[in-house]
Amino acid sequence: MTVRINPSILSADFVNMERDLGAISDADLVHVDVMDNHFVPNLTFGPQMVERIQQVSTIPLDVHLMIDDPDRWAPGYAELGAYSVTFHAEAASDSVALARRLREIGARAGIALKPGTRVEPYLELLHEFDQVLVMTVEPGFGGQSFIHETMPKLELLRGAVSKSGLDVWLQVDGGVTEQTITVAAEAGADTFVAGSSVFGAGDPAAQIAALRAAATT
Ligand code: DX5
Ligand code: ZN
Repeated sequence: MTVRINPSILSADFVNMERDLGAISDADLVHVDVMDNHFVPNLTFGPQMVERIQQVSTIPLDVHLMIDDPDRWAPGYAELGAYSVTFHAEAASDSVALARRLREIGARAGIALKPGTRVEPYLELLHEFDQVLVMTVEPGFGGQSFIHETMPKLELLRGAVSKSGLDVWLQVDGGVTEQTITVAAEAGADTFVAGSSVFGAGDPAAQIAALRAAATT
């Protein structure tokens, strides 16, 4: 299985973003957390900042929208060139229509589930999405602990993806470390977001390699 490591720039230095992007040049995608202080109790940045990041990054962007009303806002991130745009199931009024719109614009469409959100309704809809993000912490902040109780959702997803023959990426986000990445990989994840574990390391590139190795063993 192809393993992808997507560092989250939520843990980067916001005033040295270009420098910090340079430290993760061997990542697969750059995970960009957009928060609106409504869907989650934290605020980051919006389309203008993401557009600048897109211009300076050598790696494609994996945009994670933790915002209300993604039906209105998500297409703009696809239009500015994000490689993937993931919105929350709990916030979208029509997840399938929004995913179709994102694909039409040319982005990969992702749907994210908070720890308490059931996965079952989406198992029959996998063909509508390119990736499913299982949140392994409550969305909003970096540096939280991995919630192990979310792993059965990944197992269900992996089973459904295998059965369908579709190439839907299964992503985990929150509390991913060299230890928990193994747990998530065994449960069926193939795409791993890591913020504090990458940017909190003295050598982010070495940490990406260590996470990749841990997910593969
Ligand atoms: C949290 C964000 C995550 C965050 C993960 O709501 O969606 O992407 O950056 O941070 P860590 O890896 O530190 O848990
Ligand atoms: Zn995220």
